[in-house]
Amino acid sequence: MKHDVIEKNVGLLGILVAIVISIGGLVEIVPLTMTAEITNPAPGIKPYAALQLEGRDIYVREGCYTCHSQMIRPLRGEVERYGHYSVAGESVYDRPFQFGSKRTGPDLARVGGKYSDEWQRLHLMNPRDLVPESNMPGFPWLAEAKIDTRLTPKKMTTLRILGHPYSDAQIAAASADVEGKTEMDALIAYLQGLGIASKEWK
Ligand code: HEC
Repeated sequence: MKHDVIEKNVGLLGILVAIVISIGGLVEIVPLTMTAEITNPAPGIKPYAALQLEGRDIYVREGCYTCHSQMIRPLRGEVERYGHYSVAGESVYDRPFQFGSKRTGPDLARVGGKYSDEWQRLHLMNPRDLVPESNMPGFPWLAEAKIDTRLTPKKMTTLRILGHPYSDAQIAAASADVEGKTEMDALIAYLQGLGIASKEWK
């Protein structure tokens, strides 16, 4: 029996198993890369403005994702608490995406506009001033640190290569847009934009 040959040869068995699993993987993955819903932006989703883009980098640098998810599951309890469940087309301009896998704090996918800029500022300085039982750390140094204006247009140029539709004018104005802004300003601009587009969906 030919099968005996395979069963008695571990190397050959391993190679054939790898081939079969790869076919299964490709059948699942390839159609995803061609599905319009997943590769096209959801209604109202635009690439981040210069200041928001800088804020997003600070969100990643400070590890906010270690306590906060940005992924509302289509479960009744989540949708009632946070708003419309997350859809793939919302993350097309997120590299890398910030879905997160831990919720020490609430999900932030729809936090834009929930509080005022001033609330966000005070909360980031020292969360316990506003939420006495909070165990979120303060990030007061963000209020001192200025954004490096030289890097913003470079980041946008790189993202444009990856398909983010920034115009020449947006890139040319990027340094001026973040001039004199602190990291705190940028982070708040990012937070205040989260989930705004979804408020128009039904
Ligand atoms: C150690 C875990 C932890 C880290 C790290 C953390 N947070 Fe939080 N966050 C919490 C907890 C817990 C709450 C709920 C209590 C409160 O509002 O302070 C919260 C609340 C929030 C809220 C209010 C959400 C709402 O809907 O009421 C925002 C906004 C927020 N965090 C932003 C951030 C940002 C931005 C960072 C990174 C700079 C960050 N958090 C880092 C734990 C964390």
